[in-house]
Amino acid sequence: MDYVEAVEWLARRAGMDLPDEETEEEKRARIRREKILEVMRLAARFYFDNLRSPNGKAASEYIKKRGLSESTVVEFGMGYSPDFQSLPDYLIKKGYDLSTLKDACLVSDADGRIYDFFGERLIIPIINAKDQVIAFGGRTLEKEKQPKYKNSSNTVVFDKRKTLFGINLIKKLQQQETVSDLILVEGYMDVISLRQAGIKNAVASMGTSLTVEQCKELRKYTNTVYVSYDGDAAGQMATWRSLDLLAAAGLEVRVLTMPEGLDPDDTVRKEGYEGYMRYKSEALPLVDFKLRTLASKYNLLTADGKNKFATAALEILAALDPIARDVYVKEVSRLSGLAPDTIKNSLEDGMNVRAQLPRTAERAEEEPRTEINARLISARYLLSAVFAGKEFVKVTDIKEEHFDYAPHKAIGEYVLRCIAKRERPLIGALYNITDNKEEIEKVINAAASVPADAEREYYQKCIRILEKSGLQKRKAELLEKIRLSTDPEETELYKEELRKLLRR
Ligand code: UTP
Ligand code: MN
Repeated sequence: MDYVEAVEWLARRAGMDLPDEETEEEKRARIRREKILEVMRLAARFYFDNLRSPNGKAASEYIKKRGLSESTVVEFGMGYSPDFQSLPDYLIKKGYDLSTLKDACLVSDADGRIYDFFGERLIIPIINAKDQVIAFGGRTLEKEKQPKYKNSSNTVVFDKRKTLFGINLIKKLQQQETVSDLILVEGYMDVISLRQAGIKNAVASMGTSLTVEQCKELRKYTNTVYVSYDGDAAGQMATWRSLDLLAAAGLEVRVLTMPEGLDPDDTVRKEGYEGYMRYKSEALPLVDFKLRTLASKYNLLTADGKNKFATAALEILAALDPIARDVYVKEVSRLSGLAPDTIKNSLEDGMNVRAQLPRTAERAEEEPRTEINARLISARYLLSAVFAGKEFVKVTDIKEEHFDYAPHKAIGEYVLRCIAKRERPLIGALYNITDNKEEIEKVINAAASVPADAEREYYQKCIRILEKSGLQKRKAELLEKIRLSTDPEETELYKEELRKLLRR
């Protein structure tokens, strides 16, 4: 829970009125949310009971066929909707009006009749960390029927982008034991099946591609995420976006490779707890995984294949911090047979370095792709040192061109304005400069994260990184301009500047 939610929760538990600060509108919204949650819980109960009634025979047979035990079904609160009428009838008899049922995404209506949105489906409740039923997934029992799953649309209590299936059970697990990592899977059934096999730390992103919000949610619970997608999905570059998002959220990412065509549910049913845990123990760190996937796409026995592989690998290397880069240059060298120096030189070549730097203004607006981005971290530390009043900061170290990331740019401009006016930059002013509170906090805290006896050296290193990468960035920009320019005179000017830079 966040702070406000915690206060609300405690107040309610203690039977106290919430502070008056709630406006009329907020109060109406809260009451609406509570009403929706209430009807969701009733619906879940209704489905749950139906699974056990004679009406639920088809579903309980299906569950049995999939090898799910009674205690698993209870643990996940699974249920069944026997038809399209029973649920609406039941809830309306209980006094809920149509608009509430619609707002909860429990019914749909067509030609004047209302239907259970999940009619004739196996019901999987989606429950949040506060143990509230916020949505449902409904699976068909028959192979042919489409779509395989129906899911609640967004409602006032359900935001797909922020939700992870199974997070309620993770929260419970953390109250019982230390949870050192989480496993991220794609499907409901993967979470359910892994848990039944004794692997309790899985959550699902629910089919749609992973969002930044889901990554942040994961980060609340763990530092390390094992990504366990279907055998086919993991190898696809489309998955890389999700992996990068996880890394950008500050998570340590490892990727499981499972047999082609099998998902975690299939794998654990076929190979059991031990089998699945073996795949987990063999999971590769993100960069190793990417390089290995790339390597598998080229024929590394030919010179052409080696070169193509190395070129593609440069993009991955370019995004790493300098220390990691050194390690992986060796790996790329081993896989491609190219000398480490050749790879390093290509990396420093303006054209390739471009991949690591914001290409356009929009790109700079975005959140940086990887948190482990030496330039970004250096810029943040520089700003942090300014606000912490570190005596080793030189006014001349602060340059507009050091800042690519929009919040840093804005803060940097503010600092430069203060310097021009001979005023002290104030932390309090940061909140007027950018809305990105998270980044403000990072800027405020960065200086304190470096031990006092190392901070001078660290600072110098940051400045060197900013200077050097700035130079490379300018070179890349010039190369691009030369490439695009149609005016020979203009081209000559760019070339002249480039020559000067290359001599430095
Ligand atoms: P999968 O097709 O891998 O489903 O989709 P699954 O979980 O393995 O289910 P089983 O084993 O076939 O029963 C992964 C997830 O994508 C979403 C669901 O969240 C599902 O769990 N999905 C899939 C949908 O929302 N709609 C669909 O039609 C299919
Ligand atoms: Mn499956």
